Order: sequence, then structure tokens, then C-alpha cells
Amino acid sequence: MPSVRAVAKPELDPRVRDSAFLKTLRGEEAPHTPVWFMRQAGRYMPEYRALRAGKSMLDCIRTPELAAEITLQPIGAMPLDAAILFNDILTPLPTMGLDLDFVGGVGPLIGNPIQTPADVDRLGVPATGETMPYTAESIRLLVPELNARGIPLIGFVGAPFTLASYAIEGKGSRNYERTKRFMYAEPAAWERLMGKFEALLADYLTEQVKAGASAVQIFDSWVGALSVYDYRTFVKPATGRLIERVKALGVPVIYFGTGATHLMPDMSELGSDVMGADWRTPLDQAWGLIQPGQRIQGNLDPLLLQAPWRELKFQTDRILREAGGRPGHVFNVGHGLLPETPQTMVHRLTDYVHEQTRR
Ligand code: CP3
Repeated sequence: MPSVRAVAKPELDPRVRDSAFLKTLRGEEAPHTPVWFMRQAGRYMPEYRALRAGKSMLDCIRTPELAAEITLQPIGAMPLDAAILFNDILTPLPTMGLDLDFVGGVGPLIGNPIQTPADVDRLGVPATGETMPYTAESIRLLVPELNARGIPLIGFVGAPFTLASYAIEGKGSRNYERTKRFMYAEPAAWERLMGKFEALLADYLTEQVKAGASAVQIFDSWVGALSVYDYRTFVKPATGRLIERVKALGVPVIYFGTGATHLMPDMSELGSDVMGADWRTPLDQAWGLIQPGQRIQGNLDPLLLQAPWRELKFQTDRILREAGGRPGHVFNVGHGLLPETPQTMVHRLTDYVHEQTRR
């Protein structure tokens, strides 16, 4: 009987399989420290702003040719070691019955956020291959282009907690008050909500891997708002089952949170291949908080890309020193690139990390 792995995962192009990025994710020695940036396709690029003009975020995501073109913009402009699909962690929410819109200058807004247990029970868990066919289609367009350049493609989803926080708050939030109130007051409905996200996200990542994503990242951007106790009680079980199911697909899994240093020991126990680290904790300390042998991704403060080069260079040297030449470091920002970032700095930093780490 074929294993899950054999069914789901297409054969990797050897140029991609042997890339610095995938070698590092597997913990192997690579020719240099690989570099990519969260939000590397985005508003800091004039090319992106030009293409987005007059088109909505969701239209771009839902049009495979556009999503593929945006994904390739930073790859064409800079020697990055990985591409990340142009999409958003919130794209699945409308397929479950939540009215999502991206409002310029405001961010994502949901017209009918979850307020009661009955709202949770009304949420659908449709087959993502049917409700979001454009995602796999975008990946299928990208894979030949990226194979030719030896660049792996990262697929991604939001983690159950981070998606629940948008589904309940209806927008970004500072303190997640509604989310926590719901979690504490309605633990059974919260558990059902986590279970629905787990099922949908496992299916969605399976679709992405089947289409050719060669690594995946799970964004738990806002999980740092939780205490260790609440993470263990309300979030860890469903997130752990999700990571376990995704690992069975046979591609490396990166699990990322921000402001979550206190949670790193627990998050890393869920067994992802790589842990994302934000900038708040020195990389070597963060490395000490995760499982032995686990790899790490990070952790430059994205604001440093708006600092003078001497400061950016100094702090990049510091991070590389903290990495200490160990295999298993993927260079990245500790959170997404900001719209005000000069593209020249992103390019210069990519070159610099490559030069400094060439082995
Ligand atoms: O280049 C890439 O990293 C791939 C594409 C990507 C986007 N969003 C495109 C995007 C990825 C991986 C995301 C993930 C995402 N989306 C996260 C997790 C990472 C993180 O930043 O913590 C979150 C929390 C979201 C939700 C989201 N999407 C917010 C809060 C916003 C508005 C804030 C903003 O920057 O405007 C978005 C919109 C969004 N998603 C943009 C992009 C390029 C900007 C909107 C635009 O271009 O008009």
C-alpha cells in the first residue's frame, strides 16, 4: 500500500532538492546560509505596487497568473533562496462562511465575526481543492519556472489560533479580548473551532504540497498573546495534530510565532522541522529553547532594513555570530518586511549574508 508520503508529494526537481534552502531545512551542510524574507512580495516593491494598482488583494490571490507573477517579482529582482506563494493566511475564511475584505489602510475586516457557539457550528469545512482551486493552480504555474532556477516554493497557512483570532475579533487586535473571552467562556465550542481549522488547514496544505510546494510554513503570528498555560490548554493539542498531519506529507515544516519566546519550548515540542524566531530574543538563546537538532529561522528586526547600512550590517554580523556557523540556520526577518523598506537594502542584505556565510 502506498504511504501518505508517496501519494501526496510529487518528485522534487534535483536542483530544488539540493538547494541551500532545503538542505538547511533538512539540517544538512549548505554552501551558504539561505535567505528569504516574510512578505518578500509586497508593497515595498514598486513592481508590486504597479501590478496591484486597481486590483484587489483577493482578486490577485484568486487569479493564478497574477499570484504567480507577484510571487516571482522578488525572485527576479534579488538572489533569494526561496519563493513564498503570494496569498494570505485569511484566504480560507470566506470559504468557511466568514465575509472577509482587505480594506486599504485598515487591513483585513470580517463582516460577520464569530460571537456564539452556534456561529462556530455554522462554519463549513469544505474541500479546499474545490473552494480554493486557484491556490494549487498558482503553484502549478510556478513550479516549472522555479525549478529552472533551483528555487523551492514555500506553501503556507495560518495556524488555528491566529485564524481564530481574526474569525472572532473580525480584525487585527491588540489584546485579543474577544478571543480570550470566547476561549474561556465556551471551551467546548472553542475546541470545535480549533478542530475545524485543523481539518481545513491539513487539507489545504495537502493540496499545496500535491501541487508542488516543497516546504510549508505555519504562521501563528499572534500566539504570543497567550500564557504558557493557555497555549497548552487551548491551542497546543489541535496545532500539534495539524503539524503531525502535515509532516506526514514528507515536506519540511516551519512553525512561526511572534512575541512567543516564552512559548518556544512548548511550540517546538510539536515537532516542526524548523522554528521561526522573532527578533526579541538572541538567536543563540532561542536555539537553546527548542528541541535538539531542530533548525531555526530568523531573526532580524525588519525595522533594521530602514536603518543606516552600518547598523544593519553590524546587527546582521551579530545574528550570524549567534548562529555560529551551525548548519540549520535560515536567515530571515523576525516578522514581515514593512512597506517603507527600501528594496535596495533588501538586495544588499541578501548579498551580504551570502558573502559572509559562503562555505
Ligand atoms: O510575501 C509573502 O510573505 C507571501 C504573501 C503573504 C501575505 N500575507 C500577503 C499580504 C503572507 C505569507 C501573508 C501572511 C499573513 N497575512 C499573516 C502572517 C504573517 C504575519 O505578518 O504575521 C497575517 C497575520 C496576515 C493577515 C494580513 N494580511 C494582514 C494583517 C494584512 C494587512 C496588513 C498590511 O500589511 O497591510 C494583510 C494584507 C496583506 N497580505 C498584504 C500582503 C502583501 C498587504 C496588502 C496589500 O498589498 O494591499
